[in-house]
Amino acid sequence: AVDLNPAMLPLEWLLGTWESDEPGQGSFPTISPFHYNETLYFTHVGQPVINFMFNAFHAESKKPLHRESGFIRIQPGTNNVAFIIAQNSGLVEIEEGELEGQKLTLQSRALARTSFTKQPYVQQISRVFQLRSDGRLEQTVFMALENQPLTQHLHITYRRASS
Ligand code: HEM
Repeated sequence: AVDLNPAMLPLEWLLGTWESDEPGQGSFPTISPFHYNETLYFTHVGQPVINFMFNAFHAESKKPLHRESGFIRIQPGTNNVAFIIAQNSGLVEIEEGELEGQKLTLQSRALARTSFTKQPYVQQISRVFQLRSDGRLEQTVFMALENQPLTQHLHITYRRASS
């Protein structure tokens, strides 16, 4: 295995595979609440980058639903972290934010979509990843749509499936 690039040591705690320990909760004012399972993969190839893939499934039907993948970079010499993300819905985004210990708070800085993405369009995304003291990883996602202010869409916790 290749050594982790030293630039990425502040995010070493993310590396590996994470599985939702219990179904995550999805909600939004415009939709019916739902439950989902999700697997996260964080890998590297020695570059000053972490590669990731998130695959979500309906908790009851097991049907594949949301998927996103991308890259994580750190601005050298700072705690500023950037996520470069592509989503299966046709949305791409840049999120940036600050790493404080093992908590990462991100805000979207740029969003773009295919010409035929369904409306209403996402206007803003904000999310928090946190490694809790019990060893679980927690992700909370908020979004704003054209007709809805920033509101929680997702909350889920994961346990480490492998490193
Ligand atoms: C609905 C965005 C992640 C499951 C939606 C809607 C949007 C959206 C814009 C439509 C809301 C409306 O019609 O008013 C996003 C974004 C995500 C994300 C930006 C990531 C940052 C996920 C994940 C799941 C999920 C991880 C897990 C399964 C759903 C479901 C619905 C929905 C089940 C409602 C069913 C439907 O009408 O398609 N999401 N979503 N989403 N999302 Fe997400």
